[in-house]
Amino acid sequence: MAAREMLRLTNVTKSFETGSERIDVLTGIDLSVREGEIVAIIGPSGVGKSTLLHIMGALEVPTAGEVIVDGVDVFGMSDDERASFRNRTVGFVFQFHHLMRELTARENVMMPCMIAGVSRSDAAVRAEELLRAVRLEDRADHKPGELSGGEEQRAAVARALATRPLMVLADEPSGNLDSVTGEELHDLIWGLRDSIGQTFVIVTHNRGLYGRADRVIALKDGHARETSGDSPP
Ligand SMILES: Nc1ncnc2c1ncn2[C@@H]1O[C@H](COP(=O)(O)OP(=O)(O)OP(=O)(O)O)[C@@H](O)[C@H]1O
Ligand SMILES: [Mg+2]
Repeated sequence: MAAREMLRLTNVTKSFETGSERIDVLTGIDLSVREGEIVAIIGPSGVGKSTLLHIMGALEVPTAGEVIVDGVDVFGMSDDERASFRNRTVGFVFQFHHLMRELTARENVMMPCMIAGVSRSDAAVRAEELLRAVRLEDRADHKPGELSGGEEQRAAVARALATRPLMVLADEPSGNLDSVTGEELHDLIWGLRDSIGQTFVIVTHNRGLYGRADRVIALKDGHARETSGDSPP
């Protein structure tokens, strides 16, 4: 049986208007991601990778086209419904992790659950489990400023997983890590896929990451094209 389709984009376009200028960033994107896949998105700076990731996660509204997450038309909902759907179904890992500086690693991981209405004690149990999974249990009470770069990124991954999202969208998760720490983060991502079937879409310039992905999608001139990680365009 074919794996469940987690994400489908049909003819997604996105243009930005600034003053008199219009930039057509995405001009017709069709792609789908199935449960448990790790899909890498590559392409040169400014091509629209982050824009595409934000549209996939319903953070940004496309100019036209359809985004279906687990069978649900995300942009057919009201803004409030969409915000709640996003909080339940999508986990984000941003390039510079965006952890809250004044909160500990534990509190950062608890936050998405508490926003989703989970009790403090249940959120704490979930955070403990996730911090163990990313091997940060000994750093749970450190604030981001007291963590290394790799530890901060692992905390960001734990936070992205807090609400058991259908998919995790990650923007250059290893972009600012050294190669050994980056490799550890990649092992963590693959470990989560193998253990709990977590689906990932990852924007990356990192050859070590896209070279391992199940599929690699290259963005060029507003279009998405499947490519081989061995010979990116
Ligand atoms: N809010 C916005 N208003 C106007 N233009 C924007 C906006 N956001 C992005 N752009 C433009 O859209 C294009 C794509 O931006 P995007 O951030 O998606 O690129 P990217 O592929 O993620 O690049 P990088 O690899 O440098 O992160 C760029 O030319 C950018 O200047
Ligand atoms: Mg970007």
